[in-house]
Amino acid sequence: MKRIGVLTSGGDAPGMNATVRAVVRSALQNNMSVVGFKRGYNGVLMRSSVQTDDFTMLTARSVSDKIHRGGTFLMTARCLEFKERQYQEQAVKNLKLLGVEGLVCIGGDGTFHGANALRELGYPVIGVPGTIDNDLDYTEVTIGFDTALNTACDCVNKIRETSDSHERASIITVMGRNCGDIAVSTALACGAEICIIPEKPWTIEEIADQVRWGVLRGKRSMIMVFAEGAVNSLKSNVAEICASHESLSDISPRHLSSSQIAMMIEALSGHETRATVLGYTQRGGSPTAADRILASRLGAYAVHLLRDDQYGLAVGMRKGELIADPIETAMHGRTAANEELLSLITELS
Ligand code: ADP
Ligand code: F6P
Ligand code: MG
Repeated sequence: MKRIGVLTSGGDAPGMNATVRAVVRSALQNNMSVVGFKRGYNGVLMRSSVQTDDFTMLTARSVSDKIHRGGTFLMTARCLEFKERQYQEQAVKNLKLLGVEGLVCIGGDGTFHGANALRELGYPVIGVPGTIDNDLDYTEVTIGFDTALNTACDCVNKIRETSDSHERASIITVMGRNCGDIAVSTALACGAEICIIPEKPWTIEEIADQVRWGVLRGKRSMIMVFAEGAVNSLKSNVAEICASHESLSDISPRHLSSSQIAMMIEALSGHETRATVLGYTQRGGSPTAADRILASRLGAYAVHLLRDDQYGLAVGMRKGELIADPIETAMHGRTAANEELLSLITELS
C-alpha cells in the first residue's frame, strides 16, 4: 500500500491522539502517506461544505506535540447514515478516488461495525479499540480506559473525603454505556462499599440494606459506584417504593436520575445520601502513560498489518501480547462482568 487513511469515531477517548500519531509516524517510516479523515465517517463521506474540512494529508509534523493531549485533533462524531449500505458504498468510492488503499478506524464497537461494513464491501480496514468504555470482548483493554479510570478514582477520592466528614452515603455515576468495567475498576481501586452495574440485576431495597449494614459496622461514609447503564438492570418496583414515601412522591419511575436513586436509598435506609454524576470529566484529560504506550503499540501494529497486506482485523491485547482478530467477531460488546473483581469489592469493603 502506498497511501492509507485514519479516522477517530464515536465518543472520544484519551489516547486517540497518541494512536493517530503512531499510525502516521509508522506509516511514513514504511513509505506510506496518510490521509486523516475528520469527524469519523463523516469525513470519508465528505459531508462538510469545504472539502479541506473533511480530510487532510498528515505529515510527521502534523502529529508533533500530540501524544500527551486528550481529545482527538481529527475530531469525532456520530454519523448515523453510515449504517446504510448506500453511504458505505459511497465511502469506498471516495476512498478509492483519493488513492487511499486501507483505512485505520479508531473507536469502539459502533466504529468497528462501520469498519466491518467496509470490509464486507471488499475494502481493507483495521480497527483500533479507542473507547473509555472497555466494552469490547476480544481485547483485555481499550485505549482511554486507564485514563478514564484514573480520573474517576481522583473524583471518588475527593467525594469520599466530604462524605466522610458529613457521614453521608454517596452514589457516584460513571460512564461506560452498557458496560460496568469503569465502575467495577473504580470501585475496587477506591475501596468503594458498593458497585452497581448493568450486567447484574439489583434492587433499591438491597442497596438500602447494605447502606444500613455499613452504618451499623461503624462506617463514616458509604461509597456506591454506579455504572450509568445500571438503570436498565434495576429490578425494584419503583412506583411502589415512591407511593409509600412522601418524600418520593414527585419521582417518575420512567426516567430515573442518579439524584432520584439517591433519594430512594435515603428514604429506605434512613441515611443521608447524595448523588454525583462524573460525566465528561472522564473523557477528557491527558492520557496516562499506560494509555500512551497502548496507543503507540496498537497504532503502529495496525500499520504493520496493512503494510503486510493483512486486513479485516481489529488489533488488541491479550495476556500482555498484541493480537489481531477478525473484525466481524471483534466488534461484539462484552456482556459478562468480571466476577473476580466484583467479589473482591465486597470481600474487601
Ligand atoms: P463507538 O464507536 O464509541 O462505540 P458509536 O456506537 O457511537 O461509538 O458508533 C460510532 C459510529 O460508528 C456511528 O456514529 C456510525 O457512524 C458508525 N456505526 C455504528 N454502528 C454502525 C453499524 N451498525 N453499521 C455501520 N456503521 C455504524
Ligand atoms: O462510548 C463512550 C461514552 O462516553 C459512553 O461512556 C457514554 O455512554 C457515551 O459515550 C456518551 O455519549 P455522548 O458523547 O453522546 O454524550
Ligand atoms: Mg460503543
